Amino acid sequence: MLAVCRRTEKLVGSVDISGSKNAALPVLSACLLTDDKCVIRNMPDLEDVRIMFALLRKMGKTVKFENNRAEVTGQLRHGALPEKLVRKLRASVLVMGPVLARLKEGSFALPGGCALGERPIDIHLLGLKAMGAAYSILRGRMIFKRNVLKGAHIKFSFPSVGATENLLLAAAAASGRTVIENASVEPEIADLCLFLKAMGADITRTGSVYTVKGKARLGGADFAVMPDRIEAGTFILAAASVGGSARVDSANPSHLGALLSKLRAAGVKISQKENSVTVNSPKKIKPVNIVTGPYPAFPTDLQPLWAVCMMRASGRSQIRDKIFPARFMYVDELKRLGASMVLKNAVLRINTSRLSGTNIYACDLRAAAAMIIAGLMAEGETRVYELKHLFRGYENFFGKLRKLGANVSMERIREEK
Ligand code: EPU
Repeated sequence: MLAVCRRTEKLVGSVDISGSKNAALPVLSACLLTDDKCVIRNMPDLEDVRIMFALLRKMGKTVKFENNRAEVTGQLRHGALPEKLVRKLRASVLVMGPVLARLKEGSFALPGGCALGERPIDIHLLGLKAMGAAYSILRGRMIFKRNVLKGAHIKFSFPSVGATENLLLAAAAASGRTVIENASVEPEIADLCLFLKAMGADITRTGSVYTVKGKARLGGADFAVMPDRIEAGTFILAAASVGGSARVDSANPSHLGALLSKLRAAGVKISQKENSVTVNSPKKIKPVNIVTGPYPAFPTDLQPLWAVCMMRASGRSQIRDKIFPARFMYVDELKRLGASMVLKNAVLRINTSRLSGTNIYACDLRAAAAMIIAGLMAEGETRVYELKHLFRGYENFFGKLRKLGANVSMERIREEK
């Protein structure tokens, strides 16, 4: 599939945000901690979520999914992750914690790097090791045997979102008390903790330190996933970039502090209510620099979308990504549209740019969304290929953009003659 985008003068109206992908994935993994029924509402209908369903099914679970409601039942039987699925979904590493805590053994294919750069899992493994896990590597797989996970005191070298989730999942069902220091505090992790507590887990957090008292048995729960703050940020930035006035509903503005304050600094008018954000984008906006970092700093996932927005600012701005310093693969594609950007020493400098449409290729999920929005700002027609990345993490992206008046459609790729 490809996206066909034409210049759009403004975005107007309102759009509803779906459940959070990055909260849904660890919550699904937490379902492995019990054989009781778990019901998860507001589950986004996404490719990544469907891959996680496939993983759960491979391990013995039954998953039903209808109208954004997932029901997970059945027994956890196997702890072996097939390489094909692991390669498709990095978040598949999140099943390690629950599988080891419950089955005491497992065999997991090694995850690879990805378009965001190198993505090691050493922090996950050091934490699991501190809890008593040991593994050997055989034919590209980590083999864990006879591991009895016990509570431990763990201090992360860097606050990793995935490692925090993995260790919380393991600690919730391990014996004894686990303390995780210098951990991540992203809202998606707070959502996971809410779900775990609903299952009966004992978790407290003070600053960046979590204390977990392991429970021998956790039960089922009925839970609604939080709104996707990155999807909300994407539509807020779409309106700020294209222009116009749009209301983003079913969002939680308190999760978007860094983005909203940067937009206000750029001169974009923002008003917020408890569950919505309204954006009014003026004709001219000011250049504003950002540095991404762990929450509550500016999120790395919105960095490519910020770059697109800053192309219409009057003056030069810059971006440094402290989470994924190499997350600039999209720059060369935006340059094909006429983007005036220079990447030097891991800092991206963005100048005011006049864009004109051509064919470009998405390299990852957030870059795909950023390129489509750039296509709405460009003169003429922009065709964005490799849409498979977009479907991993945005539900009904085209329907939502069109509801705001965007001139965008999806087409099947015809074979070249
Ligand atoms: N890192 C290590 N060792 C580890 C783990 C992480 O060196 O063991 C490094 C990573 O290479 C990276 C940094 O630490 O440079 C942060 O990685 P983190 O573990 O925090 O990220 P993640 O859990 O792999 C999640 C999101 C990403 C989001 C990042 C940062 C999910 C499923 N994924 O990834 O989301 O960019 O946190 O906020 O929650 C996306 O949705 O498009 C996406 C990529």
